[in-house]
Amino acid sequence: MKAFQVLLALLLTAAAADGQSFHFGSCPQPSVQEDFNITKYMGTWYEIEKLPAKFERGKCNQATYSLLVDGTVNVHNAELLSNGKINSIEGVAKVKDPSQPAILGVSFFKGVPDAPYWVLSTDYQSYALVYSCSDFFGLLHIDFAWILARTRMLTGDIISKLHDKLAAAGVNVSHLTVSNQTGCDIMI
Ligand SMILES: *[C@@H]1O[C@H](CO)[C@@H](O)[C@H](O)[C@H]1NC(C)=O
Ligand SMILES: *[C@@H]1O[C@H](CO)[C@@H](O)[C@H](O)[C@H]1NC(C)=O
Ligand SMILES: *[C@@H]1O[C@H](CO)[C@@H](O)[C@H](O)[C@H]1NC(C)=O
Repeated sequence: MKAFQVLLALLLTAAAADGQSFHFGSCPQPSVQEDFNITKYMGTWYEIEKLPAKFERGKCNQATYSLLVDGTVNVHNAELLSNGKINSIEGVAKVKDPSQPAILGVSFFKGVPDAPYWVLSTDYQSYALVYSCSDFFGLLHIDFAWILARTRMLTGDIISKLHDKLAAAGVNVSHLTVSNQTGCDIMI
């Protein structure tokens, strides 16, 4: 029990220090996009808003997904750092249960467990709402959310609909931050 308490304290401290969104209780189970078609979801998405994620330090954040022959997805995330350099990382996403195609796991480092990647809503052509939540022993959870778009901006109408969906999932949308997508000409 003691080791467990220490671990929990460490997790809480790490989460708080990172400014991440941690909460008590287990993860919510929001509904995901019905009849999700991964093929239509491939291509480039730009980050419009997100729940604080400190590991993304730059601006002009974007993700490019491509379907591989084995059915997994290559993930290429890129951002522009303040020093003008482009920082990028490659990962792999996969659907674990074919009966739940909108629920993926993403991994950027070998040996590190997949992070959940739930597509809550998308029309494939303009917007996508992604949610990721991990819980620890059902006592504590940390969540992330991203509003993505096919262009570097999204209409207020769509954003407010996506906020409603996130709020329904129990996310406090006032914690979302707007991503800077200006001055991104250097990005492909
Ligand atoms: C998914 O989308 C692709 C590309 O538009 C299409 O060819 C395919 O038939 C769709 N799959 C299903 C199951 O609708
Ligand atoms: C949402 O977060 C804001 C800012 O932290 C806080 O003031 C507000 O009470 C929160 N709302 C809910 C419903 O938890
Ligand atoms: C976004 O980036 C541009 C170009 O680097 C900068 O001029 C602008 O102040 C930034 N906007 C915000 C809200 O930080």
